[in-house]
Amino acid sequence: MEVTITIAEMKALRREIPGSVGFVPTMGYLHQGHLALVKQARADNSTVVASIFVNPTQFGPGEDFDTYPRDTERDLALLEKENADIVFIPSNEEMYPEGFSSLVEVEKVTERLEGSHRPGHFRGVTTVVAKLFNIVEPTRSYFGQKDAQQATVIKKMVTDLNMNLEITVVPTVRESDGLAMSSRNIYLNPEERQAATVLFKALSLARQLQERGKIDAEYLRQKMTSLIGKEPLAKIDYVSIADAQTLEELTEIDRPALASLAVRIGKTRLIDNMVLE
Ligand code: PAF
Repeated sequence: MEVTITIAEMKALRREIPGSVGFVPTMGYLHQGHLALVKQARADNSTVVASIFVNPTQFGPGEDFDTYPRDTERDLALLEKENADIVFIPSNEEMYPEGFSSLVEVEKVTERLEGSHRPGHFRGVTTVVAKLFNIVEPTRSYFGQKDAQQATVIKKMVTDLNMNLEITVVPTVRESDGLAMSSRNIYLNPEERQAATVLFKALSLARQLQERGKIDAEYLRQKMTSLIGKEPLAKIDYVSIADAQTLEELTEIDRPALASLAVRIGKTRLIDNMVLE
């Protein structure tokens, strides 16, 4: 496995790769969710590239950029075990040199849900992902369903800007009690970790109700809200039943829908979602 920290070297390595390239962009502190992306990339492509870069431009003021967990040595060991071929680990200065002044912005679908609670977040994500795509030139790139809105936004960017790659979305990997794997789970103390199962419980309730024929979206939002309300450590940012494509809130579930939510457990903000077919 090759490890590179400069854009010039990454591009030089890329020029030598003959077949398909599967690319997994990450912010490190890898868990089974990331490794599922690497496994899928490994299965679909002859070469697998992963990146590790905690991207400052997607964190808002007061968010956890400084404390975001980092453990590059452990990440490299995990990637080696999954047979990744190249790992790109640029510095902030390499990605955003003095005078950097270009941004990539997807409109509309970024205005809801995470976008309305984290202004500028998706502009940071699309800018860094567009840069990484230009550097790595992947055939395919892999994103987790857990960040469903991020995957939707990136697909839109790729379509709108005619980028020459495929986006694959890989199912969420969960702990045995349903908690979606996330690098931020490390922030939870044991009591909070227990409380965090309320996200999966609320989404499972939405799915059960919908499977039993409840199509009133507001009814589902209320039931989810009241279940989360019973957990004293949980504070809701949003609970949504939205069109799975546009992410616009639904009145009736008359098309594929996405149940999603953001909940603060103590100081940790967690997100999760489930598709309602
Ligand atoms: O999902 C993430 O870890 C990040 O948003 C990404 C896609 C690596 C961009 O920084």
